[in-house]
Amino acid sequence: MKKWKQKAIVQKIISYLPFGQNINYLFQKYVTKGENLNDEYFLDRLNHAKKHIHHYQKISGNIFPNSCLEIGTGWYPVVPISFFLLGSETIYSVDIKMLTSKERLATTLRKFVELVDGGKINDFFNFQPERFHVIQLILSDLENHDLSQMLQLLKITYLIEDARKLSLPDNSIDLINSNNTFEHIYPVILIPILKEFRRIVKKEKGVMSHFIDMSDHFAHFDKSINIYNFLQFSDRQWNWIDNSIQPQSRIRIYDYKNIYEELNIPITELTLREGNVDELKSINLDDSFSKKSLEEIAISHCHFISDMTLTKS
Ligand SMILES: C[S@@+](CC[C@H](N)C(=O)[O-])C[C@H]1O[C@@H](n2cnc3c(N)ncnc32)[C@H](O)[C@@H]1O
Repeated sequence: MKKWKQKAIVQKIISYLPFGQNINYLFQKYVTKGENLNDEYFLDRLNHAKKHIHHYQKISGNIFPNSCLEIGTGWYPVVPISFFLLGSETIYSVDIKMLTSKERLATTLRKFVELVDGGKINDFFNFQPERFHVIQLILSDLENHDLSQMLQLLKITYLIEDARKLSLPDNSIDLINSNNTFEHIYPVILIPILKEFRRIVKKEKGVMSHFIDMSDHFAHFDKSINIYNFLQFSDRQWNWIDNSIQPQSRIRIYDYKNIYEELNIPITELTLREGNVDELKSINLDDSFSKKSLEEIAISHCHFISDMTLTKS
């Protein structure tokens, strides 16, 4: 049996167990090796942070967002720590589950120390030295800090809430971002989340910046399939294969554009990775994916940037 099918079966079983997320973390860490904070992942998320910052600065004219929010940060809070180093005062990470821990946070902080010591951080953004000093202090006295103290010093607040209904006031956040998260949220939930984001983001100089990876994530682990493998299945079949631990909605760039348009969220800039039409042609596409051009379906990654000042009422 192909490796991706074995993983799909294991995740499906885990998804029915209590503490499924914790078991999945151990499964990914020790079996599929998909959840270690390796250099590739760290640099990828740093590049995301760099682009969020670039677009925020370009649109707002400010050097850093005073308040920012990431949905679905995951195990290692690379992007929130980047905003701390940049100078942000209030940094929210929203998720329905608490996925970080003292150990994972410390691992992330050590990566930043390596980055600064190696002189590489300025390739990504200009950090504030006194903020870096806070990170050094935490790490030098780790045994005397618990997770909540560490987060407080880093000005990071974890909101363990459903992002469809956030406990934040209207018009209060300068920058909302996400990194490889939207593809894991089906439109029936993503649409109310985007409505909620529209409510809390500032109408004056507020920005939204979302990276979406539309590739079949099983292909990241099993190199015998390509990134379009999951498009061969009907919704009904996919419902059997997909799991609640790491769901994949499979929606394509045109679906995201439609959602933005229906919600009156401006698309100020849209960058994309074209993908590979020849690889897509090797898949026997399900009828539901045959209504658009192969070029559009093949687009594998995208980055939506919104200047919320331009929101139509
Ligand atoms: C796969 S993870 C994101 C990965 C992470 N951003 C990274 O870079 O590795 C998607 C996250 O979105 C969260 N999520 C899904 N629906 C949500 C909701 N309604 N409100 C808040 N978080 C949600 C999930 O709990 C999950 O942790």
